[in-house]
Amino acid sequence: MTKVDAPKIDARELRNCFGKFATGITVITSLAKDGSKIGLTVNSFSSLSIDPPMILWSLDNRSNNLVDLTEASHFAVNVLASDQLELSNNFANPADDKFDGVTIIEGKCGMPLLKDTVAYLECKNVHQYPGGDHTIFVGEVEDFEISNKKPLLYANGQYGLATRHPSNHFSEPTEIEEPQDNDFIVLLLLRSYWEISDPFHRELLDEGIPVAHARILIHISQTPNMTAPEVAKSTRLDMATVSMSLKWLRDNGQIKFDDAECITLSEKGREFLKSVKCRAQRFEEEVLDGYSAEDIDMLKSMLRKLIHRRDV
Ligand SMILES: Cc1cc2nc3c(=O)[nH]c(=O)nc-3n(C[C@H](O)[C@H](O)[C@H](O)COP(=O)(O)O)c2cc1C
Repeated sequence: MTKVDAPKIDARELRNCFGKFATGITVITSLAKDGSKIGLTVNSFSSLSIDPPMILWSLDNRSNNLVDLTEASHFAVNVLASDQLELSNNFANPADDKFDGVTIIEGKCGMPLLKDTVAYLECKNVHQYPGGDHTIFVGEVEDFEISNKKPLLYANGQYGLATRHPSNHFSEPTEIEEPQDNDFIVLLLLRSYWEISDPFHRELLDEGIPVAHARILIHISQTPNMTAPEVAKSTRLDMATVSMSLKWLRDNGQIKFDDAECITLSEKGREFLKSVKCRAQRFEEEVLDGYSAEDIDMLKSMLRKLIHRRDV
């Protein structure tokens, strides 16, 4: 760790030192006297008091908005979410209209609020104190709201994401209520999967087709030229099941192995897969009969988002 002596403090080193403290990112929004919107990115935000409810942040005295913000009756603290990095950059750079293309909602106290943030606090602008080259603003919270989104973080001059520390798994507060089984998305997904798929899988099995065969064919059709271990990894089936299924599929002419043991579907395999998919679709339609098209679309869209959540 670099030790810095007090008398000859290097401003750049001090800035680096301050930057070691990880923060969230907020955008302070407010209205100037002429009604024009003010917005700037701020990470000096801090909670201050619960009763009365107070927060603080500090503004560079060189800011063009110093006078307007000093005179404003209220301001809002918009706590940015992990997917709002562009908003942070937008409000950290001078522009003719920083709000151009930004969706705004009017808060209860009349402040312009950014949409889809982690949280916002609308505050009465109650005190300002000198703080060296900054002015400290203290706000009394009049309204606030929180969401379940993940926050955007800032440390070492870089944006970051919040992830739970692994040791937290062992230090959960004991007074936390035991979650109900019905609260677990994974259990709900599993139970609904069994509910929808069991009748269909039973029918396939009655015809001597284990569900593993169909699953493997689907994966090979989506990713041709996999080897057997890659098929096992992709389908999450154990190697013994995969080997048995692949042998059956090859003996029945549904898949082909090339010299490098890479697997592709044969024409027969493609036809078989098509017929299985059509039947699965009919089963699904029967099970989902009675649900509205909107509900089904919403479910599908949510499931797709979960599957592709790493791309979000
Ligand atoms: C991550 C980050 C945090 C910032 N925090 C502050 C802050 O706490 N106070 C401040 O005055 N400026 C802060 N800034 C700089 C302002 O956002 C920037 O100077 C902005 O252009 C000021 O807007 P204005 O020129 O419209 O006043 C920060 C910038 C970034 C990127």
